[in-house]
Amino acid sequence: MMASQAISAPPHVPADRVIDFDLYNFPVEGLEYQATMRRIFQSNPARVLWTPHNGGHWIVKNNQDVATVLADNDHFSSRRIMVTTEDQQRPPLVPLQLDPPHHAPYRALLQAALSPKAVGKLGDRARELSIELIEGFKRDGHCEFIGQFAQHLPIAIFMEIVGLPAEDRPYLTEVAETAMRGETEEIRNEAAGKLMMYGMAKVAERRANPGNDLISTIVKAEVEGKPIDDFPLTGMILLLLLGGLDTVASTLGFYAQFLATHPEHRRQLVENPELIANANEELLRRFPIAILAREVKADFTLDGITMKAGEMVLAPTPMDGLDEHKFADPLTVDFNREKPGANSTFGGGVHRCVGSMLARTELRIFLEEWLKRIPDFAVKPGFEPKVSARSVATITRLELVWDPASVK
Ligand code: HEM
Repeated sequence: MMASQAISAPPHVPADRVIDFDLYNFPVEGLEYQATMRRIFQSNPARVLWTPHNGGHWIVKNNQDVATVLADNDHFSSRRIMVTTEDQQRPPLVPLQLDPPHHAPYRALLQAALSPKAVGKLGDRARELSIELIEGFKRDGHCEFIGQFAQHLPIAIFMEIVGLPAEDRPYLTEVAETAMRGETEEIRNEAAGKLMMYGMAKVAERRANPGNDLISTIVKAEVEGKPIDDFPLTGMILLLLLGGLDTVASTLGFYAQFLATHPEHRRQLVENPELIANANEELLRRFPIAILAREVKADFTLDGITMKAGEMVLAPTPMDGLDEHKFADPLTVDFNREKPGANSTFGGGVHRCVGSMLARTELRIFLEEWLKRIPDFAVKPGFEPKVSARSVATITRLELVWDPASVK
């Protein structure tokens, strides 16, 4: 990936707050994306930092400041949610990129589709599919975890929610991956365009032929007294796809690499499956993948620094779960830790992840069904996995191996 052009600091940025940090191109130590980011930010003791990369932006780095930026909609807008100088050619993600009061009615529609009852049903489907996938390769003694497992699960669940045919799965997986992590801006925009076309075609189909799925429900719904236009409607579908796919797949990648390299933690869960629910929360705390950003809407002073309207501020979710003032010894994974779930891995404020219950369910099912069948596994010797990150950090490929005789 190209390093971003650094700009010079504007006069209201004190020199001691400047840090040389390029979000899309910093040297990750091994697979320790979150811990490396934390180390870099902690190398400067100030609460608020500024980097000249990616258009120049602020960075907040302790749990309270991350929470403030996410919760204060009067000063921070979600209109722009990435630090970038790129021209992103896709409709705004709805409701993610809408501020209050416009945000709530759209969110309510998605909330209904992701209610506890709906998640119960989707969880049953996720379990069937997880078992099917694992049974499919467990006797091989190896798999490429991301492509053969992690991406399949969330996309199949998305297809269930929106009532799309299973045969479109491979196409959507590939295009969504390119839209998120394609090599260049042009390639990413082209893939986002394809996703949009796909979404618009499905919207037209459901308008003509409504069913019981979420797209049909949204097509029929009214917001602020009128039907939803195609543009925000496509933005909603795109958000459900991108919001639920990449995040779950990436988190699964971090879970699998951690367990593959920590036999004692693995054994603990195999021997004490009742620990899995808390282990799931602890792994979510330790491996947050969302790097959020906001546009400053009205001047905001924090720690003696004034962030000016129109500037961008990074609110990295790992800086909450890995804040030592909130969680003792935060880099250590402890499946018995008390209340590991009180963190910002799923964001905060009005945009806090609407799919968090579904995500937790998918992740827990992975832990349960995988460890029951493949209790011992390792990263393939000689294979070096890499982390790639834009607004979501992900392990791009993960070759795992195990002894076929050890599977259950
Ligand atoms: C481990 C998995 C996941 C993680 C870590 C995650 C993380 C997040 C975060 C941090 C936000 C807030 C973004 C912001 O404030 O800018 C968010 C919002 C959202 N997520 Fe998730 N997410 C996950 C899974 C899912 C799933 C499975 C779905 C749906 C199927 C989903 C749908 C959404 C939607 C629709 C929003 C926007 C909510 C709003 O704007 O009100 N997410 N997610």
